[in-house]
Parts: sequence; C-alpha cells; structure tokens
Amino acid sequence: MPEKELRYQSGFGNEFASEAVAGGLPEGQNAPQKSALGLYTEQFSGTPFTAPRAANRRTWTYRIRPSVTHKPYEETETKLIRSGPFTEVPTPPNQLRWNPVPIPGEKADFLDGIITLGGNGDPAFQTGVAIHIYAANASMEDRFFYDADGELLIVPQDGSLKFHTELGIIGVAPGEICVIPRGVKFRVVLDGESARGYICENYGLTFRLPELGPIGANGLANSRDFLTPNAAFEDRDGPFQMVSKFLGRLWVAEIDHSPLDVVAWHGNYAPYKYDLKNFNCINSVSFDHPDPSIYTVLTAPTVNPGTANVDFAIFPPRWMVAEHTFRPPWFHRNMMNEFMGLIFGQYDAKAEGFVPGGASLHNCMAGHGPDAETWERASAAELKPQYLDNTLAFMFETQLVVRPTKFALETKILQHEYYECWQGLKKHFQGSKG
Ligand SMILES: [Fe+2]
Repeated sequence: MPEKELRYQSGFGNEFASEAVAGGLPEGQNAPQKSALGLYTEQFSGTPFTAPRAANRRTWTYRIRPSVTHKPYEETETKLIRSGPFTEVPTPPNQLRWNPVPIPGEKADFLDGIITLGGNGDPAFQTGVAIHIYAANASMEDRFFYDADGELLIVPQDGSLKFHTELGIIGVAPGEICVIPRGVKFRVVLDGESARGYICENYGLTFRLPELGPIGANGLANSRDFLTPNAAFEDRDGPFQMVSKFLGRLWVAEIDHSPLDVVAWHGNYAPYKYDLKNFNCINSVSFDHPDPSIYTVLTAPTVNPGTANVDFAIFPPRWMVAEHTFRPPWFHRNMMNEFMGLIFGQYDAKAEGFVPGGASLHNCMAGHGPDAETWERASAAELKPQYLDNTLAFMFETQLVVRPTKFALETKILQHEYYECWQGLKKHFQGSKG
C-alpha cells in the first residue's frame, strides 16, 4: 500500500479511528474501567462540550501517560513571538510590504524561528489572529510545544517539515498546508537544512470548509482531499521540555518522557494537511471576475454571518478567459484586512517586489491594486485564453485591522519604497468639464 495511504485517513472533520498497536482502541465505549494495553484514557476537546453537533470537536486518546504528568510551568522568553492585544506601536494606514525573512545564522528550531509580523484581537477573548513567519535551521528533538491560544495554519514556503504530533505524523512541503489544532502537542523535524514559511494563529472558531451556496455540492477544496494522520507514538524517556503558549506568553515545564505517547485515538479533533494542487479553482467564463472569496480554502467564522475572523484563500495556477475584462485583481478598498504571501512564482497583480517568502499587508480602506507596470500591460493585453502558470500566492483575510509588531515596522526587510510601485499611474482622463 502506498505510504500516503498507510499514514493518513482522508476527509475533513470526520470521525476517525486509529491504533498504532492492535487492541489499543476500546470497543463499544470510550472510557472502560481499565484501558487496554495498560494505557490511560484522556478526552481532548477542541470545542465546548455543548457546541452544536456539526461544529463539535473532540477526540478520545489512549496514551502511555496522561497529559497532567509534568512539572510546573515557568515563564520563558518569547523572543520575537507577539500576541494580541497588539499595542507595541501605532498602526499606520499605509500599504506595507516585506522581503523574505533570512534563515537565521544561529541554531534555531521551528519555535525559535517564529517572528510575529502582526495580528488583531486577543487570545484571552478567543477572537482575532496572529500572523507569523518562521525561518528555522534545526529540528525539535527534546522539546515539544502546544498552543493554548489558537490553532496554527502553517504554510511552508521553502523546505519540507514533519510535524510529529500527539495524534500522528504529518509531512508537509511547499504547496501544501497543515493545521495543528489548539492544544495539540507537537515537535517539528526539518527534512532539509532549513525551512521557511508563514503561520496564521487563529484565536477564534476553528477553520472549516466554506459553504458553497449556488456552487453546489462540489468545488473549491473538497473534503476528501484533507488528510489526517494515523496514530503514531513515541515511548522515550529523558529530560525533555514542554513549552506552552498561554495568553501570549511562553511557559516551559520539565517533563521526563515524550508527551507524544498516544497509542490509539478516535474522534474528529485532529491535525490535517491539504495539498493546494487539489483546489478546484472557480472563475469567470464570461466577463469580469468574482470577488477573491471565490478562492477560499478554509474559513474561520465569527458570529456575524459572512464576516470571517480569518479566511485562507489561494491564487493558484489557472486559466484566465474573461472577455473585455481587466484580468488582474482590480483597484479596490475594502473593509476586511489582507495579509498576502507568495509561495512560489509571480503574482499577477505585481510586476516586481512581491517575492516568494515575502509578504504584503493592506489594511481596512487602504487603496491597493496592480502596480503601474501591470496596469499598463493588462490594459493593453490581447485577451485570448491564457494559462497563469508558476504562481501560488495566498491571503489571510481577517475581519479586524492587522496591527504590525514593532519588529515588522522597524526591520530592514520592510520595503519603505513600496508606495513607489503605484506612482507611475498617470492621468489618462480625456473628457472635459463642460
Ligand atoms: Fe485586496
């Protein structure tokens, strides 16, 4: 059987069941008086017990030791990780753009290498997001991490990673994404010498597939293409560290064994991965174009209908066929706040400056759109069917203004000259006043 099928179960939010050792899962009940194989039973809930059935997420784990077996946590340094409320520096209404974060010169694992560019809301109120970049050159071997503040949507840009989690191992490469739910313990192993990418830390309701409305039962990201790992456990002892992100601070506790010791589990609260190549891209086949929400892969809603705490959208390779239409994204200003990154290739609204590993931020009501060179080219382009190849950009679009961190506004990788890309847009008006 192919490795992919051995390691993963498919579907989004399904009731999964997996045992790394035969007989680890109880039959017919969740919590027998004595678990099989000498395991402990522990329920792991990602939603309130009384969340509606469709949104309810919980998993029963059967593990070597329960999660409570660690020494007390003590606060440790957060380095460049920041959390809501984001109040370090005033937020300018300017369009902002950054070059890629360099790979660190000193040893830095995934956790060391996280740099927060901005965010909104507050993990204490379970609303908002933090947007991070990671740049790492070492694996996490003897320390483990969990985030109580939110779930982590990881978008690798350079280098593949393996997330060794409580519930199994997820391998993820550029062009794929993975989501580590709130509270899931994990460590990250690099496949190569270094890795870089983006993280959306979602403080709010969990990511889910968007409703499809008139699109119908199929399209965009299909449930069957989401992969959740089978059970895989570590039975190793040693002086290890358990790091917790809790209310914006990092805390560390000594632990004398690997906490990735779940031998069997069943439930619907689990990490998952998705290959962005499977996204069924829908676009105009007549004229104009739909709003960028048509590219939504996952959405984390708020209680306000149609208003996301954060949407994850992608701009993948696709056919462009619209007639008598300016085909790149048009000039616009909007209520939502748009953080963009580029995984590879070139983005069709910018001639240069927006590079793989870089990022841009256009906040509430900030005008943005194609640069002058792109406007000139697209206004005169011959409108034959065109395949947009070698491009994969994405957007974290969020309800609240993304407030940059002090690092984001003071770093050398901030492009102070970004505004210049629009200064070449000349007046072409040919009418007259009277
Ligand atoms: Fe936009």
